Amino acid sequence: MHFSTTLLTLLPVSVVLGSPVPGKHGLDLGSWKKDWEHKWGDDEWKHDEKVFYFKKTYAVKATSNQVRNGTTPVQGQPGAKGLFKFGINVEGNTICYNITLSGVTGDYQSPALTATHIHEAPKGASGPPRLAFPNPQGPDEKRVSYGCLTGPFKTGITANGKDTGEGFHVKQIVENAKNFFADTHTKQFPLGAVRGQLA
Ligand SMILES: *[C@@H]1O[C@H](CO)[C@@H](O)[C@H](O)[C@H]1NC(C)=O
Ligand SMILES: *[C@@H]1O[C@H](CO)[C@@H](O)[C@H](O)[C@H]1NC(C)=O
Repeated sequence: MHFSTTLLTLLPVSVVLGSPVPGKHGLDLGSWKKDWEHKWGDDEWKHDEKVFYFKKTYAVKATSNQVRNGTTPVQGQPGAKGLFKFGINVEGNTICYNITLSGVTGDYQSPALTATHIHEAPKGASGPPRLAFPNPQGPDEKRVSYGCLTGPFKTGITANGKDTGEGFHVKQIVENAKNFFADTHTKQFPLGAVRGQLA
């Protein structure tokens, strides 16, 4: 929908109305159009073509000793570990995630929409959730969750009269990754079973 509207506004009126298409040089549709056209010429470009365009990727080790209540250290689930992988496409306000937990047991629990989050706060402090991911599922030795989320975002937590995901853009993570952390909460460890800082 958005794509075709944009395309229409880029095309000269003559093309939209179905008149003969002017020669290549009569069109000035910018580098995007040039790149697009080029791709239908031959298959050379396929060698280096990226399939997903992540501005930044993160592989975060989450542990039970990084959990905080405010700035007070709180023990998460002993021995539990998490590997939170993220890829961020800024242009599309999209974050892809691949989360694996090992040793997290029992039911998830959080007042948010899900119990697996990216929160905004520096290392050693608590902060509001900005993104809520589907909780990893599977046997306790390997619970997994993967997919992508696209804004506008919603966490289900309200602060200052609005959802803590409202207005959030994934570029905020790219701009200051050390101000964000990933975690997951369970009934037994409501403040976090494991937690890891993005940078
Ligand atoms: C976190 O700390 C606050 C204030 O110190 C305290 O009231 C609360 O019970 C703590 N939460 C948990 C789950 O321990
Ligand atoms: C997620 O990462 C694991 C390794 O940590 C890998 O085995 C798996 O294929 C990845 N899943 C996706 C959907 O990329």
